[in-house]
Amino acid sequence: MIDAHAPLFPLVDSSYDNQEIIRCMETLLSGQLTMGPRVKQFEETFASKVGARYAVMVNSGSSANLLAISALVNPLRKVHLSPGDRVAVPAVCWSTSIWPIMQCGLIPVIVDVDPRTLNISIPALRVVLDRQQVRGLVMVHVLGNSTELGQLLQLVREHGLILVEDTCESLGTTWRDSYLGTLGDFGTYSFYFSHHMTTIEGGMVVSRSPEDDDMLRCLRTHGWSREQSNRDQLEGENPTIDPRFLFINLGYNLRPMEIQAAFGLEQIRRLHDMNAHRRSNVARLGAAFEAHPLWHGQLEFPRATSDLDPCWFGFPFLVSPETRLDYRRFTRSLLARGIDTRPVVSGNMALQPALRHLPVDLSEGPFTGAQTIHDRGLFIGAHSKPLTDERIAILVDIVLRTLEEHC
Ligand SMILES: Cc1ncc(COP(=O)(O)O)c(C=O)c1O
Repeated sequence: MIDAHAPLFPLVDSSYDNQEIIRCMETLLSGQLTMGPRVKQFEETFASKVGARYAVMVNSGSSANLLAISALVNPLRKVHLSPGDRVAVPAVCWSTSIWPIMQCGLIPVIVDVDPRTLNISIPALRVVLDRQQVRGLVMVHVLGNSTELGQLLQLVREHGLILVEDTCESLGTTWRDSYLGTLGDFGTYSFYFSHHMTTIEGGMVVSRSPEDDDMLRCLRTHGWSREQSNRDQLEGENPTIDPRFLFINLGYNLRPMEIQAAFGLEQIRRLHDMNAHRRSNVARLGAAFEAHPLWHGQLEFPRATSDLDPCWFGFPFLVSPETRLDYRRFTRSLLARGIDTRPVVSGNMALQPALRHLPVDLSEGPFTGAQTIHDRGLFIGAHSKPLTDERIAILVDIVLRTLEEHC
């Protein structure tokens, strides 16, 4: 059925089909709806897909970030951060890349980004690390790209940082032979419906050590002992407590449901193909812009960093500084012509009013790279299915003609 009101080119195309629906129906009919065997199976499948040792599923990417940082500050973790410790985070990120840092009593230190990659600026990070006592880094891999990771990992080693990779926008991007999200202590992913794969809502935390895996499982679910690898020992040490209700640490309830995992098990089988389509769509869009008769370099396309095979989350661009543009009118006109756009994540997070009354360290500003992205950056959808040449031609034509009209 054609929806006359649907945009010609939405930000997201629907990535599921009848198989996901059937798997969800089977799950509903099975009677096991809360977290159970499908979640376990999805965790194992996901871990092996990305090459992680352990994976713990949660109900969103935001919960994944909260869980990872909560594990980092937990006093029972051998190496943990303490209240007031500082954690670097890029100025272009999502709100819940930053909020959990503060929710766990730590101080986010905002670091500028490089508008050519949309990701954290290595020179800016170096300055911050030389100037301040920073103990951790939440590296947000923005829109499927990343920074110069060889240099970043060297800084992490030199400064003994704990590294959390917020990979919510970059599932499938590889650096050398590794999936993003598997390079640090923790990697987090989102399966919100617009992301590389979806469980409707959902998220995952990957980790490297059995101790962290135990910690994540404990904090995910009330702080109880049920999923601990040393469950028998814990129960033996507490013989007077009902072993089903033995609480050994703090905790939340961030559990996913079985239908989310059922959905994910189907989606992950198609992740490779969907990502191949995204990569190809982005490459073909870029080529079509540059081949269009109206093209004179009025858009700048972010570049992938060294040794990275990016799986773009969207098709991002910066309108060149020579093009004087009323950004709001431009995006409204594009939408009126059927092309949805959005800022690069949320633009410069340092401008958000929430930060004014929160303990965030903005002293490393001004964030000129983030401001450039804020003022001139946009993205359109990359889509998980192949775009036809005709659709690409129409899209490119509309964008360039609309741009001409607004200059
Ligand atoms: C970088 C980043 N981190 C975290 C999240 C949060 O994920 P979720 O929407 O699944 O809570 C998002 C969401 O888009 C994101 O882009």
